[in-house]
Amino acid sequence: MDTRKFVLHNGVVVPHPGFGTCKIQEGEVCNTVLRALEAGYRHFDTASLYGSEEGLGEALRKSGIARGDVFIASKVWNTDRGYERTKAAFAASLERLGLEYLDLYMIHWPANRKQFGDRAEAINAETWRALEDLYEEGRVRAIGVSNFLPHHLEDLMKTARIRPMVNQIECHPGWPQLEVLAYCREHGIVVEAWSPLGRRAVLDNPVIQETAQRTGMTTAQVCFAWLRGHGVLALPKASDPSRMKENLREEGTLDEKDMKAIDALEPMWLCSDPDTVDF
Ligand SMILES: NC(=O)c1ccc[n+]([C@@H]2O[C@H](COP(=O)([O-])OP(=O)(O)OC[C@H]3O[C@@H](n4cnc5c(N)ncnc54)[C@H](OP(=O)(O)O)[C@@H]3O)[C@@H](O)[C@H]2O)c1
Repeated sequence: MDTRKFVLHNGVVVPHPGFGTCKIQEGEVCNTVLRALEAGYRHFDTASLYGSEEGLGEALRKSGIARGDVFIASKVWNTDRGYERTKAAFAASLERLGLEYLDLYMIHWPANRKQFGDRAEAINAETWRALEDLYEEGRVRAIGVSNFLPHHLEDLMKTARIRPMVNQIECHPGWPQLEVLAYCREHGIVVEAWSPLGRRAVLDNPVIQETAQRTGMTTAQVCFAWLRGHGVLALPKASDPSRMKENLREEGTLDEKDMKAIDALEPMWLCSDPDTVDF
């Protein structure tokens, strides 16, 4: 199996790993992305929220790399939910990126019942309808969601014409979300891991450290091998050039015993619950 490629249910191939562009120092996005392109990344994850779309677009133009050789994903933020606002948000993202089309566009977070009560399901359905139309108009090659739990996906599928191709969720040792992974596997939805290293917090865990020492991997590579063992596409962010390169080198696999031991770690780092977030 080519572990550098994931194929979506519409046949679109997604380069792996992706490169996260959230929380890159202000003014540094263009240079960081240029370094990442140089290192070999071909998939970049952004969102209107991150403030990285302009810098990413600038880097793509400066690099001279052909548009068809990179995979660019963005997301509609929570304040732009609904049909018309989502379409306008998509156009604004394209404008900031300086691109004609996106490879993947996602709903960043589901509207939840805590904030929207009985209207939550209809809001998600309308936002999704906008993504479906953008897809059918050929303005985006794939559409997906982020932070959707199985019950959000079930609700969405009541009115959806197109099944989401991707679900991007918080996923790292200490927050495996195994029930989301199982649901997505069953329904042919590729899972992408945000904060695959738990923003570093996971790397100090004694089980991760012991596994790294025993297998000859770095602690970050143990996280990536565990994600790969679950069929999950990782989206690490690294500003440091050596970490950038380290995250591209996928060395080693984990046996079943190690996979299970990491699955069972106590919850750690953010452990976000899409049903209770209030943003
Ligand atoms: N959909 C969502 O709701 C959502 C939410 C959060 C994030 N995301 C996406 O996921 C991407 C990644 O998540 P993240 O940035 O929160 O967390 P992350 O990738 O788990 O962690 C990034 C941190 O780990 C460090 N790091 C990277 N590689 C390392 C290595 N090999 N060894 C040691 N440290 C290493 C980085 O350091 P340096 O940068 O200093 O090198 C940075 O401080 C984001 O950029 C974004 O695209 C999506």
